[in-house]
Amino acid sequence: MDEASRWGTPSVLTTAHRSAGDAFRAFFDIRTDPEQPVAFSHQLHLSKELVCTDCHEGVERGPVAGLPSVNTCLICHSQIATDRPIIQQITKLQEQGRDLAWQRVYGYPREAHVRFEHAPHIRSGVECSTCHGDLSQQTVATRVVEMDMAYCVNCHKAKQASNDCLTCHY
Ligand code: HEC
Ligand code: HEC
Ligand code: HEC
Ligand code: HEC
Ligand code: HEC
Repeated sequence: MDEASRWGTPSVLTTAHRSAGDAFRAFFDIRTDPEQPVAFSHQLHLSKELVCTDCHEGVERGPVAGLPSVNTCLICHSQIATDRPIIQQITKLQEQGRDLAWQRVYGYPREAHVRFEHAPHIRSGVECSTCHGDLSQQTVATRVVEMDMAYCVNCHKAKQASNDCLTCHY
């Protein structure tokens, strides 16, 4: 059965997607190569000795890593590279009380009822790169790891973490 007929809406979902998960994500606008509102570079920032938690503040503490607001950018950029057009654009946004609308790269549609938590993985020593690839080689993030259910379950089996359905689903 092809995917369009599986999901029953061939006019919306095309058969070009590799898996049902991909079709879902396309439908919910989570993209492999999203267009971000400004040209951000992980490569440049990580070459300046920044660490992930400078911008993804929640990742060690809770379920969600979080994406930086203009306020986070301006913790540094109220002093650094203030003459650059992008920084001036961001400064103006903050003055207007507006923010950057980052498009999501990873994630699941609500319909998949997936529950993911960062903190227990970081505590157990699972590296960011295991699930997201090497960000020091990426400008904006691209989805280089396909985190389908088998991907999660196989590691949980190997590391003797729980594979109860309700560990990962609600
Ligand atoms: C075991 C796999 C795994 C590891 C390890 C991991 N992530 Fe994630 N990450 C995910 C998944 C899955 C999502 C999507 C979660 C969702 O949308 O429910 C995600 C989402 C994100 C997001 C999007 C915003 C958010 O909070 O959902 C950021 C940013 C992120 N991860 C950063 C990191 C950083 C930084 C590290 C290391 C400190 C890290 N991740 C380690 C699997 C992982
Ligand atoms: C913890 C500090 C810090 C944070 C937070 C930070 N940056 Fe930077 N950023 C830097 C440093 C350091 C440089 C390198 C400056 C240089 O080499 O002149 C840089 C450089 C840049 C440049 C390149 C300027 C150029 O043309 O060379 C841009 C654009 C930029 N940052 C955007 C952002 C955005 C957008 C955010 C928020 C999402 C952000 N930065 C958050 C420290 C930070
Ligand atoms: C200077 C700020 C900054 C630093 C440091 C930083 N990031 Fe990011 N990250 C961002 C911004 C801004 C975005 C949103 C644009 C994009 O998708 O690239 C983002 C997006 C991401 C995403 C995509 C999340 C999603 O689902 O949309 C992942 C994964 C990620 N970062 C991982 C990391 C990891 C791992 C590190 C450390 C090795 C790191 N980042 C360091 C600013 C930063
Ligand atoms: C590379 C190995 C690895 C991958 C990949 C992985 N996990 Fe985990 N996961 C772990 C480990 C190790 C723990 C911690 C178990 C503990 O604390 O006893 C964990 C814990 C969790 C927890 C918390 C469980 C609890 O009882 O608090 C959730 C939820 C979870 N994982 C969901 C996921 C999901 C969803 C995915 C796929 C997107 C995933 N994991 C991918 C290794 C992994
Ligand atoms: C370690 C985490 C984990 C466990 C345990 C887990 N799932 Fe999943 N499951 C996922 C993730 C992540 C997805 C989303 C996959 C995607 O969108 O690519 C998913 C997707 C699904 C889907 C949607 C169809 C699909 O394959 O995309 C069903 C149905 C499902 N899971 C049922 C179950 C059942 C039943 C159990 C218990 C026997 C279970 N899952 C245990 C992580 C898990």
